[in-house]
Parts: sequence; structure tokens; C-alpha cells
Amino acid sequence: MGQLDDAERMTREELHALQLDRLRATLRHAYAHVELYRRKFDAAGVTPEDCRSLADLARFPFTTKADLRDSYPYGMFAVPVDQVRRIHASSGTTGRPTVVGYTEGDLSVWADVVARSIRAAGGRPGHKVHIAYGYGLFTGGLGAHYGAERAGCTVIPASGGMTARQVRLVLDFRPEIIMVTPSYMLTLLDEFERQGVDPRSTSLKVGIFGAEPWTEAMRAEIEERAGLDAVDIYGLSEVMGPGVAQECVETKDGLHVWEDHFLPEVVDPLGDGVLPDGERGELVFTSLTKEALPVVRYRTRDLTRLLPGTARPAFRRMEKVTGRSDDMIILRGVNVFPTQVEEIVLGVPGVAPHFRLDLTRRGRMDHMTVVVEARPDAAPADRDEAARRIAQGVKDGVGVTVEVTVVEPESLERSVGKIQRIRDLRQA
Ligand code: DLL
Repeated sequence: MGQLDDAERMTREELHALQLDRLRATLRHAYAHVELYRRKFDAAGVTPEDCRSLADLARFPFTTKADLRDSYPYGMFAVPVDQVRRIHASSGTTGRPTVVGYTEGDLSVWADVVARSIRAAGGRPGHKVHIAYGYGLFTGGLGAHYGAERAGCTVIPASGGMTARQVRLVLDFRPEIIMVTPSYMLTLLDEFERQGVDPRSTSLKVGIFGAEPWTEAMRAEIEERAGLDAVDIYGLSEVMGPGVAQECVETKDGLHVWEDHFLPEVVDPLGDGVLPDGERGELVFTSLTKEALPVVRYRTRDLTRLLPGTARPAFRRMEKVTGRSDDMIILRGVNVFPTQVEEIVLGVPGVAPHFRLDLTRRGRMDHMTVVVEARPDAAPADRDEAARRIAQGVKDGVGVTVEVTVVEPESLERSVGKIQRIRDLRQA
């Protein structure tokens, strides 16, 4: 516990006072320098001075991804572009990317929160950190990079891809920590085994996994096969990047939100009402210290709930994100998340943790096929049994009928970053 910074030692009351100061400053900064916020606040009939308590935030309008996209590229920056030291962008599935910017101060705060996240995961000065999140416009690689340096670690900036070389680097450079998406970690584990190396025998002790939803079943699978502690890191480029929230290795009970910089709310995903802590809904963030791109009540579309702090008592936790409202499949009136299928697939022997969800239309009905890889040692009868058990599991657990196709080992495309589970073939 000698590894906590001052903010992590605050009481909840001290934190609230700090948050209110910072919130009021953020609202003033956004209102004064970003035309979109000025228009939205005026339309809602609020000014920054109306925020006298944290609860008053609920009177302010939401910000959405569409707002950012419509102001492409710099329309929502609150400082002149020459004060922006770095730009990142998220590709998005359609249309224009969303562009985010950071002042020198923002970059420093970002490094601090990622460093804090790495310490919460068990990282210490002198540890070597292998970073296999992609470097580039994606915030994963560079965000992790500067945080690991700030934490006093030695960085191995591997970036994503060139999987055989990643394995070589881990064996030769002997990192204690790996930062990578959970789906790419699975790809790496397969590659260790293909090269005849037991992944449990490597120097890795901690994996800091995020950038996509993953389940407790996936944690168990990775920890068992890799012989390390797997913890969750959350973030999004609009709010900062990785390091908005982090799971502590000693409890592994959800992610502490670094609330001295990012104020979370959970709202009704279909409306605008704020839900009490403990209720599941859409996560919304207001930045408290950002200069270049302050965000006020940004709707993340991520579904979770807020819980009291444990290992870091002043900070609330968010439960592991089960999915995004965008990834929700509505199949004959039933909501299905890829993570629900993941839990089921990983509990069935005979199949690998590699699967894809194909959506098709049969007549007027939507139809889903779970395409999953057999384990190399699975006999034909094991495959049939696995298919039957997955279909039954989805029927019992989720409430819909799906088809299951078990395909040959190594036949599904492997993730090198964020995995795309759903293949939508319903057009036309
Ligand atoms: O994925 C930032 C990041 C990089 C986080 C590396 C963690 C590690 P974006 O590309 O903007 O930023 O995507 C953000 O990814 O709204 C979630 O839907 C999803 N996501 C990120 N972390 C998690 C996680 C980065 N731990 C979007 N669990 C978010 C579930 C996550 N989903």
C-alpha cells in the first residue's frame, strides 16, 4: 500500500469537494471556449454558475459521439490548436473518425492515471512492460506507453501484429507485465503453444487487458493458460484513452474509476434519467481536468453499473462492461450481447475460445449462427456434443434459439487488436 498517490488516500468527502471545484471549472472552460457547449447550455437554460453541487450536473445537456463527429476535426477543442501537443482519433465503423486532442497538461494527467492503473495492477518501478496495444491514432499503445514510463517501468513498445515476433520478444526481454487486448492475448497464447513454449513458463506475472468487453470466463481461461493475474483496464478516446478506470489486482472486483479526473454517471440507456448507484445502465463521463477537449456528460454507450469502492475506498467501481448498446443484437425481440455467448462458449469442453457471430435473415426472421473453433484434440463426437451444449446454453441462458457450427482449429481469423465478433450478413 506504499504505492498509493495522494488522491488515492482521500476520503470520499475530500474527493467530493475536489470534484465540485474541478467540475465548475470544467463547465466554465467548456462554456467559454466551445461553441457547441455554449449553444447546448443556452438551449437547456443553464449556465456554469448553476452548478452548485455535484447533483446539479444532471441539469446539463449530454454530449454524444455525433457531436464530436459533426465538429470534425477541431470544432470541440477548447484551446487554440497550437497548444495541442497530440492528436488521436478513433476510426469508428462508419463515416468520419472522431478526433481528440491533448495539451501538455492533458498528456501529463493521462500518464499519471495510466501509471496509477499500472500500480493498481501490481506494476512497480523496474518492471518491464510489454505493450502490444496498437501504436498510432488509437490511444491504446501510446497511452499505455507514457503511463508505464511514468510508473518507472521499462517499456517494450511492441505495438500490435507480427505475432511470432511478439512471442520472441517476451521470451528474450522477459517482461513482468503485458498490456494487450484480451482477444489478442488469446492469439499470443496460441502462438506460444505453436512454438512449443508453455506460456505458463514465461516471465509474465500480470496482464492488463482492455479496449474491448471480456468476461470472467475469459479471465479464468487466460489466467489458467498463461499463469498470470489478468486485470481489466477501461477507457475511451473521447474521455482520455486507457486509464479512466482500472481493476486492482488484490481484489479483481471491477474497475475503480479515477474519479478525481473523470466523473461517472449511469443513465437510462433509452432516456436521460440518472440511475442510482447499483443500477445497470449507460455510463456517462464528465472530464474534470481536461484542457484541450473537455467533455460534459459524454454518453459512452457502454453498459455497466457503479458500486462502492473497495481496494481504493474513495473511488467508486464500475462493474466489468458487459457490452455496448451498439453491439447489442436484437434477435426475435431478445437482446443478445456477444459477452453472453462468450461465457457459454468458454464453459464448453471441446471448443476453443475463438468464435464469431454471423447474423443472417431467413424469410422475415433474423437468425444467428455461432461459428466456433474445435480444439485440436476434439473428436467428431466431441464437436457434436459441444455444438449441442452451446445451443442449449444460449437457449437456457439468453432465451433464443441459435445455430452452432463447429469449424476446424485455426480456421477463424485471429484478433490482432480489438476483436469484431459480429458479422452482419443481413443487408439486402
Ligand atoms: O479502447 C482505449 C483503451 C485502450 C482502453 C487500451 C483500454 C486499453 P477507444 O478506441 O476509443 O478507446 O474505444 C473505447 O472500447 O467505449 C468501450 O466500448 C470499449 N472498451 C474499452 N475498454 C474496455 C474494457 C480505447 N475494459 C471503447 N471493457 C469503450 C469493455 C472496453 N470495453
